[in-house]
Order: sequence, then C-alpha cells, then structure tokens
Amino acid sequence: MSPIIVIARTIIRELFTKSKSERVPEPDLIMDGDDSVAMFNEVAKTALSPIYLYGASHSCGLIRPNDKVVDFGCGPANQLNMMAKIHPEAHFTGVDLSQEMLKVANENAKEKNLNNVSFQEGNICNLSFIEDHTVDFVISTFALHHLPDISDLDKASSEIKRILKQNGVLYLLDFSRFKSEKSIEDFTSLEKEKYSELFTTGYYNSLRAAFYFDDLKDIWQKHLTSHCEIHTTYPVSFFVMYKSRPRVECNEKQRAALRKIYMSMDKRYQKDFRKICLSIGVDSCKLKKLVK
Ligand SMILES: C[S@@+](CC[C@H](N)C(=O)[O-])C[C@H]1O[C@@H](n2cnc3c(N)ncnc32)[C@H](O)[C@@H]1O
Repeated sequence: MSPIIVIARTIIRELFTKSKSERVPEPDLIMDGDDSVAMFNEVAKTALSPIYLYGASHSCGLIRPNDKVVDFGCGPANQLNMMAKIHPEAHFTGVDLSQEMLKVANENAKEKNLNNVSFQEGNICNLSFIEDHTVDFVISTFALHHLPDISDLDKASSEIKRILKQNGVLYLLDFSRFKSEKSIEDFTSLEKEKYSELFTTGYYNSLRAAFYFDDLKDIWQKHLTSHCEIHTTYPVSFFVMYKSRPRVECNEKQRAALRKIYMSMDKRYQKDFRKICLSIGVDSCKLKKLVK
C-alpha cells in the first residue's frame, strides 16, 4: 500500500480512536548487546542523521562558548558528537548505563578528533555525580522511551531540573505513543523495505514503549515549564520535543558547519531533514534557510 494511504489511514484512526493501548516497555532497556549496539550505531550514522542535524541546528540558538552540556542516554553519541563539532568551545558529557554504548561513543568521538567531550556511566534517573544547578544545557534523543515506567520518567525529568542552572536550556526529542496497536504496526511496515529486520524490530519496540503525549506533557508541566516549551507533530502526536527558546544567534561558522553536514548527506536523508523541519514545525523556516 502506498505510504500516503498508510499515513492518512493512521491519522484518521488516531483522531477517532477513543481507547488507548497499553504501553509495552522496551525489551532492551539498557542497550548493551553487541548486535543491537552495532545496529543502532549504523542507523544513527545514516537514517537518523537528519534528526541529529535537526537537533544540531537548534543547538546553535542555545549553546554559548564555555557552556556545560549533558546528554541523557547518549548511546553512541552521534547527536552529542555532531553538536560538539559545531561548538568547539563548549564542554559535552554523555551519560549512559551501557558500557558497550559508551565504548562506541568514545570511538566515534576519536574518529571526529573531538577533545571537548567525555563520557560517564550513569543512570539518568539518579545523576548524583552532577551537582545541583551546574549545567547550562541538557539534551536527550530517543532515550526517555527506554525508561521502565512513568515514575522513572518523573525521576529523570526531576534530575534535569535539579542539574540545570536557573537559566539553563533544554533540547529533548523522543517518540510519543499512538493510541492504536494497528497504527504502530502500519508505521513499522512503512520502514520494512528500507531497513534490516533488526532495525524494524527495534523501531516497532520503540513505538510500543513510547509514552503518551499527555504523560509527557504532565511531566513537563510538573518540572520543566520554566526551562522550555513542549511541541509535537500535527495533527497526530508522533514526535515530542521539549525545547527552550533560542537565546543566541547562529554564527556564520556554525551555519557553514551545518550546511557541510547537510551537503554530505544522501539525497533521501536531505529530504527527510526537510520533512522533519516541516512536521515538527518549530523555527522550520529558519532551519530550512540554514541549509539552502
Ligand atoms: C535508543 S538509544 C538513543 C541513544 C542516543 N541518544 C541517540 O539518539 O543516538 C537509548 C539509550 O538510552 C540508554 N539508557 C536507557 N536507560 C537508561 C538509563 N536509565 N540511564 C542511562 N542511559 C539509559 C540506552 O542504553 C541507550 O544507549
């Protein structure tokens, strides 16, 4: 079936379904299997690169020289490393509970000759090694849905609030949950042809483990309203983003770096980047101008 029909059917189903299916936590909460780490790193360098470019574009409005940045659930650090390359005067720490992921993150950072990043094993629900109000910017991509339940989501968000400085900022992106299992199956099947079975299974598990937009909104209201706004895709919530308003202007050097990443991407990923800007919609005009 054509992707447009699948998407249209999903939108209609999601808008009119009243019941909500049960959340199914990730079977791989901490990603430390060799196969899943290698697969995720590969996907992160290719299919997820437009998402990371999107995050990196936003980071230019948020990161100042000497800022201290912490990535919650950094995985192989493709997002963190991309930002670190664009902001050589800021300091980045990636936190993850998986030693295997941190090993790959270190290798990826070395490959990019980065000397402003470090990695630390830790649980994002309890970062006692980071002092209160010492961090300028917290980022996180596709990590929250790996938490076992809402109480952990609450703990991780309260940790974000605790470690951020009073004027600290935030960029966090994750999936939100469809109401219907059928929508999850249909969306997974859209990607089936393009990717390996391991990736498709991982994607399916992520969509089943995602939190509902309402839950993510409640947590935002409880802890994070003073630091950021909440955004989602329209008319159906699929991506959710917590993002602070820009506080600095993107400079020419940063624009050139973003443009270089965009130009190095395969045409289909360039198209995906433009689609992401459009569907999440925040500052999308400005982001599109960045890569023109
Ligand atoms: C899907 S990966 C995303 C990685 C990275 N943020 C990215 O976008 O490429 C999710 C990561 O969260 C990590 N993770 C899950 N639960 C965690 C926890 N409680 N504390 C720290 N890391 C956690 C996993 O080990 C995994 O590396």
